[in-house]
Amino acid sequence: MLKIVFLGPPGAGKGTQAKRLSARLGLLHLATGDMLREAVAQGTTLGQQAQAIMARGDLVPDALVIAMLMQRVAGADAARGFILDGFPRTMPQAEALGRELGGGVDAVVLLEVPEDELVRRLLARGRADDTEKTVRNRLDVYRQQTEPLVAFYGARTRVHRVDGVGAIEAVQDHILMALDVEQEAKR
Ligand code: AP5
Ligand code: MG
Repeated sequence: MLKIVFLGPPGAGKGTQAKRLSARLGLLHLATGDMLREAVAQGTTLGQQAQAIMARGDLVPDALVIAMLMQRVAGADAARGFILDGFPRTMPQAEALGRELGGGVDAVVLLEVPEDELVRRLLARGRADDTEKTVRNRLDVYRQQTEPLVAFYGARTRVHRVDGVGAIEAVQDHILMALDVEQEAKR
């Protein structure tokens, strides 16, 4: 069972790369942003709680996100392992994940992209939370609440810093080289 966490600022390519890697390795891709957007689209209680928070670019309360994610991590489709994208992004989330998994995660991939490129990518994409104001806030929230996880994981497991600038396939190759897990996952 392989447990990989993707870290990186908004627009770094976590979703793009985690999706490809999960298909390649046969691991479940769990993206809390996608799950929350689905909840918003379906109008569930969680979606109603999350909608305005996401529109501002703030974080949905830990308790809600942790409950949502832990359900999926414990599911049968996660038995071979999973790639987390967008979770954890606060210290309490990282601690909750550590408790749930016992042994922690196997590897962390940190996608590094300069801020001007992040802003350029997000404004070009135009998701509901890709407005100039919200993007600035998402970047601030990342620096304040999520970036400390790099040191948290650095003390516990391998954190692979990967340059997220360049062709999507080239970035994927660098991730695969850094992880060197393809063989392991196929066993
Ligand atoms: P979430 O959906 O996780 O958004 P994010 O972290 O802000 O990041 P993005 O999804 O925008 O970027 P990404 O790194 O996935 O890059 P992508 O591959 O899309 O979270 C949204 C909101 O949900 C949060 O603000 C919060 O409110 C809430 N939330 C989610 N998880 C939470 C949690 N754990 N706790 C609390 N709240 C939570 O790529 C971006 C763009 O760049 C795309 O257009 C893509 O095509 C392009 N691109 C990708 N790679 C390249 C490349 N190599 N070259 C050029 N363009 C590229
Ligand atoms: Mg994403």
